[in-house]
Amino acid sequence: MSTAKKEYKRITVKSLVEMKNRGEKISMLTAYDYTMATIVDSAGIDVILVGDSASNVMAGHETTLPITLDQMIYHAASVVRAIKRSLVVVDLPFGSYQSDPKEALRSAIRIMKESGGHAVKLEGGKEIKESVKRILQAGIPVMGHLGLTPQSIYKFGTYTVRAKEEEEAEKLKSDALMLEKIGCFAVVLEKVPAKLAREVAASLTIPIIGIGAGNGVDGQVLVMHDMLGMTYEFQPRFLRRYLNLYDEMSGAFKNYISDVKSGDFPSEEEQY
Ligand code: KIV
Repeated sequence: MSTAKKEYKRITVKSLVEMKNRGEKISMLTAYDYTMATIVDSAGIDVILVGDSASNVMAGHETTLPITLDQMIYHAASVVRAIKRSLVVVDLPFGSYQSDPKEALRSAIRIMKESGGHAVKLEGGKEIKESVKRILQAGIPVMGHLGLTPQSIYKFGTYTVRAKEEEEAEKLKSDALMLEKIGCFAVVLEKVPAKLAREVAASLTIPIIGIGAGNGVDGQVLVMHDMLGMTYEFQPRFLRRYLNLYDEMSGAFKNYISDVKSGDFPSEEEQY
């Protein structure tokens, strides 16, 4: 297995499978706006996820459930305007695909037409099989999402690790296989035991992207605000913080406030 990195002009769903075949890990981060997407795209990220975590980090909701399809389209269109290289995957929000395959297709089409995103992501396994098939039949690439699926938080009751018990692990494995079989190009595995995630990644030909799923998978995804340290209450074990932006930004804001109050800003050079 070669780990040599190939330079892609644009990342496509096909590139991701090639990366898996070469043993090159796939990098994925969320983004929800133009400025952040510009920075993360030019840094060389492979996949940008316009996640429904926007409901938490952008809108301040406790769960991902309230965000609407219109709001997801707004975020996704802002991201698409920024990118030159990354593949943009957009979450179908809660309530936009669960009732029937036709509704799921209509929602996916709206995302593709109105935002310019390249693929959609849906949470769930066999319960949403017909919806995923319908979307795929329309030529829209689909990423699956198994394990902890935050849109079902009220069914689970907690955000703890999923599929620790045999029965749930078996269901997850068969759901992942089913998603591959019907044509999904990748699957996110969230908060599941590393051993199980490694097993799933080894048994599938499509890439498995993990979040809290250990190092044996084909790529990793994190929520941008968490890895930048802009959020501070959310401290799961799987999260690596690359900056402490909350404190950095807070310090900058305090300095600005103090400069304005003292009359230090603007200086002679900063006026006309
Ligand atoms: O919405 C999101 O950010 C996600 C990731 C946590 C995978 O689905």
